[in-house]
Amino acid sequence: MQEKNRFYITTPIYYPSDNLHIGHAYTTVAADCLARFKRMQGYDVFYLTGTDEHGQKIEKIANEKGMQPLEYVDGIVKNIRELWDTLLITNTDFIRTTEERHEQVVQKIFQKVYDQGDIYLSEYEGWYCTPCETFFTERQLVDGKCPDCGRDVEIVKEESYFFKMSKYAERLLQHIATHPNFIQPESRKNEVVNFIKSGLEDLCVSRTTFKWGIPVPFNDKHVVYVWFDALINYLSAIGYASDEEKFDKYWPADVHLMAKDIIRFHAIIWPIMLMAIGVPLPDKVFAHGWILLEGGKMSKSKGNVVDPNVLVTKYGVDAVRYYLVKELSFGQDGLYSEEMLVNRINSDLANDLGNLVSRTAAMIIKYCGDQIPQPGVAEPIDEDLRNTALEIYQEATKKLEKLDFSNYIIAVMRLVSRANKYIDETEPWRLGKDEEKKDRLASVMYNLAEVIRIAVTLLTPTMPTLPARVNEQINVFADLDHLTWKEAGQWGVCQPGRKVIKGQALFPRVDIKSLEEIVMEPKETEVKKTNETKAEETKPEYITIDEFAKMDLRVAEIIECEKMEKADKLLILKVKVGEEERTVVSGIAKYYKPEELVGKKVVLVANLKPTKLRGTLSEGMILAASDENNVEVLTVEQVSSGNRVK
Ligand code: MSP
Repeated sequence: MQEKNRFYITTPIYYPSDNLHIGHAYTTVAADCLARFKRMQGYDVFYLTGTDEHGQKIEKIANEKGMQPLEYVDGIVKNIRELWDTLLITNTDFIRTTEERHEQVVQKIFQKVYDQGDIYLSEYEGWYCTPCETFFTERQLVDGKCPDCGRDVEIVKEESYFFKMSKYAERLLQHIATHPNFIQPESRKNEVVNFIKSGLEDLCVSRTTFKWGIPVPFNDKHVVYVWFDALINYLSAIGYASDEEKFDKYWPADVHLMAKDIIRFHAIIWPIMLMAIGVPLPDKVFAHGWILLEGGKMSKSKGNVVDPNVLVTKYGVDAVRYYLVKELSFGQDGLYSEEMLVNRINSDLANDLGNLVSRTAAMIIKYCGDQIPQPGVAEPIDEDLRNTALEIYQEATKKLEKLDFSNYIIAVMRLVSRANKYIDETEPWRLGKDEEKKDRLASVMYNLAEVIRIAVTLLTPTMPTLPARVNEQINVFADLDHLTWKEAGQWGVCQPGRKVIKGQALFPRVDIKSLEEIVMEPKETEVKKTNETKAEETKPEYITIDEFAKMDLRVAEIIECEKMEKADKLLILKVKVGEEERTVVSGIAKYYKPEELVGKKVVLVANLKPTKLRGTLSEGMILAASDENNVEVLTVEQVSSGNRVK
């Protein structure tokens, strides 16, 4: 089979009930990263996002503001589009469900499904959560509230059209079984399969008690249920029933990306709608986790919303995108804090990447004039650097293909650390003192320029302005407008003779002290409670294996240690976790002298929220056993630093 060269990726279409926050930005930036990656691989990419503008919630908000729904959403949609411009999102189209091109398709599909007998008129009596725009049975409620968002639900009793979901349940299970990658990650797939197996009820697909929706074509007392309407955007935007050529080119979608809150709509209702109209199913439905804040999921009513515009103004678009793409581990939830964002900027971007570029530029200028030099004969250490670069190219590619965004970034940053280590190992400042080592020095400088070119190319989908900014200093890219992914997998692309100029720091360090007001002493973190965790609160003595797996325990080697001034219990440790260095403050000064600890390999809780202790930022905690007399840190003998403890 000939390899297809088009790629269709979507985000959810967001409710324009309010301005969007960093959670929505996460999905859109992650999807953009994938879209840019695929374009760099040579794919013809269609990247779709948009807004879901109908429904009771929007009507209610507009009423409260004394506005017409469309008038209200127009303002928000403008802000959303501007936000995507600010975040350098490269969507191909932006669909609004109030556009005629969409409304027509929804009506056509509703009519078709009705005509074939899969939609029928009946009466609905049950519960409705307006913020989630979701129907629930009595049995599904948790303490009488919405099982998804925990808010109040209202009783609904009205004449409605129903969609025969139950008829397709077996076929859907079959599809899931025969297409192992259809629902990702695996944990979400199990959740969906269990849900279907517990029995699918027919879905109520129209409402009569409000007006803000697409009229049912054959009965204008009814408007189409907002989810039935919204899901169809993935078809209407690419010309279903209007532009056959375009539609055939891009459908089926390669990935529908979203967070786990709406996986059931995409992995159950949507495929069944597609089966009913005889359209093939998308290749993959991928649900990432949530970005949580202390105090739970972001929401306007809690007043804990983070506006991405503010972050971009403060830290720049590349840094914000980098943070987002890296922060959520594959399919898992992650905590957001501005302090962690600043830590990432300072450690990964300013220290590791920024320094690599500025050190290399400064050394080339000092030792080789203002040009990238011609390399000489490669030594084993050069081969090692080259092999690492090529391996990391493979690894980063694989991780991105899998939508494992954080591990893709971690892989590339390993290359950056390797290159920094290469500088320490080759000691260019020594070579520079010896006339006879001139050729060797030239090779080292060339290799650094080349590794920078590779790492920056790999980071381009995440940080789109990075190549141009690096090029202003070390002119490694001959054609900035046509960077290809393939070239990141090749060594020796950079032409000797290209210009090097000393420039501004790529990522200025952020003074952590300026964040003092938001840095708090350790505090118990409350995350959004799902139903499962609520149920488990009644038996607090157990945690599940998944909960345990959330703890990222790593072997860490203590490389430096000193007593904290004016704090008799605290030691400041510098530890190495693989290639990464961290500072950890530990309350063991009474039990260990600093020199006793240096060289020990200990166990670090690596994903503990960083916190300031007496003015020093502690990035993790080391484990120790204790009784009334002793405190003993847990140590590891054979396994090297960076490896996981589980
Ligand atoms: N309108 C529906 C989607 C219809 S798609 C046919 C909807 N809209 S929404 O505005 O509520 O957006 C939900 C989506 O926004 C999530 O699935 C996720 O992609 C993104 N996120 C919103 N808050 C988020 C976090 N706190 N963390 C991660 N993603 C978040 O549902």
